[in-house]
Amino acid sequence: MELFTALATRASAGQLAEPGPTPEELLRIIEAAERAPDHGRLKPWRLIVLDGDSRGRFADAVVAARVARPPAPTPEQLTLERDKVWRSPAMVVVGCSVQRDNPKVPEIEQVVAVGAAAENLFLAAHALGYGVMWKTGPAAYDPGVKAAVGLRPDDHIVGIMHLGTRVK
Ligand SMILES: Cc1cc2nc3c(=O)[nH]c(=O)nc-3n(C[C@H](O)[C@H](O)[C@H](O)COP(=O)(O)O)c2cc1C
Repeated sequence: MELFTALATRASAGQLAEPGPTPEELLRIIEAAERAPDHGRLKPWRLIVLDGDSRGRFADAVVAARVARPPAPTPEQLTLERDKVWRSPAMVVVGCSVQRDNPKVPEIEQVVAVGAAAENLFLAAHALGYGVMWKTGPAAYDPGVKAAVGLRPDDHIVGIMHLGTRVK
């Protein structure tokens, strides 16, 4: 897809189904994300592709975070939290591992670079014909959820990116 067509037609997918990107397409998408501009070449992004096992651990952490967050959830709400993690064929968590002692590049610039990487990822997947939903929500700010994808408590989850074939 031509760049301006991709830019003009990019939109969030409300519902995703199989198939998701192939491993080769996922690699192209990740490589496109990593071409984001980045002050100081710190490469602060962490592009974490979740497979079946790691997605299960991520879902466990999302559920634990919801249990810890008032008001107390019903069992149905917890099931919904878990199910939401599994509502797409593929998932990439876009994290920002911040260098706080960097004298030249303040935290905001590192986070902005990761936002650019997330948008590159979105557009690359869209250009290959896939639907994308960029999510965050309270779970993205939970230290246990961050730990489940190898991030530190003071790192950031900038996006929980769901990818697949757009249904709507
Ligand atoms: C940083 C960020 C976080 C987002 N988090 C959520 C989210 O938690 N839930 C959601 O439904 N959409 C989320 N979105 C997607 C926006 O809601 C969506 O882009 C917006 O509604 C505009 O729709 P469009 O992408 O189709 O233009 C997020 C987008 C960004 C950039």
